[in-house]
Amino acid sequence: MATDSPADSVPARAFGVDVGGSGIKGGVVDLTTGELVGDRHKVLTPQPSTPEAVAGGIREVVDHFGWTGPVGITLPSVVSGGIVRTAANIDKGWIGTDPYDLLTRALGDRTFCVLNDADAAGMAEDAYGAGRDRSGLVILLTFGTGIGSAVLFHGNLVPNTELGHMEVGGKEAEHQASSKVKDDKEMSYEKWAGHVSTVLTAYENLFWPDLFIVGGGISRKADKWVPHLTTRTPVVPATLQNTAGIVGAAMAVTAGLRP
Ligand code: BGC
Repeated sequence: MATDSPADSVPARAFGVDVGGSGIKGGVVDLTTGELVGDRHKVLTPQPSTPEAVAGGIREVVDHFGWTGPVGITLPSVVSGGIVRTAANIDKGWIGTDPYDLLTRALGDRTFCVLNDADAAGMAEDAYGAGRDRSGLVILLTFGTGIGSAVLFHGNLVPNTELGHMEVGGKEAEHQASSKVKDDKEMSYEKWAGHVSTVLTAYENLFWPDLFIVGGGISRKADKWVPHLTTRTPVVPATLQNTAGIVGAAMAVTAGLRP
């Protein structure tokens, strides 16, 4: 495991940055515990959130800590073959961008990697959070403006699954069961849970997971809707809350992940 110190007794640490539509958050992660060392730091996502502008924000967050070691970075995007393929809630100018070229200019010769935000959250929840003591196939879903997904088998990530865009009953999953849909349509938790059940049932019929982990801001109110779900697969709320992306990003760079 990579470490920012040559001394074996010092816990391995890496830096994680979570880029979202409204904020760029980062912090130093202790990889032996999956916890942040000190506070996280947040800057507002520049508007428009062009690649160059966001790269500057990432640099600012890393520099805030004087960090010179490895950095993992999440984007609300599919990242495959070293290229950003989609852009949800960030400027469409990201599509087709080589983030390694872009961020080498901002971060210099630090080791870094770039991955999807839900994939990072899934890695963190699986290792340190709600999936910690569970094995087998785990699917994490983040409910927010859209639905993000991460699929892990015994801790190994299948990147870029994008289950929120799967058509369920003729409609994209995230267009019927994101928490934005609940807010926009002023649905009760119970009614919304019905839509979430429809989507989760479609997923479980294809993947046969051992566990669903549900994350995103609405997972803080899990007691209001998780009991209404009708899936055969157990569903548990995420536990790392707003650090999952940062922690997963730090794990990814330490693991040498490069989707
Ligand atoms: C995007 C995913 C992202 C998720 C959460 C979805 O709309 O397609 O790539 O992980 O939102 O940000």
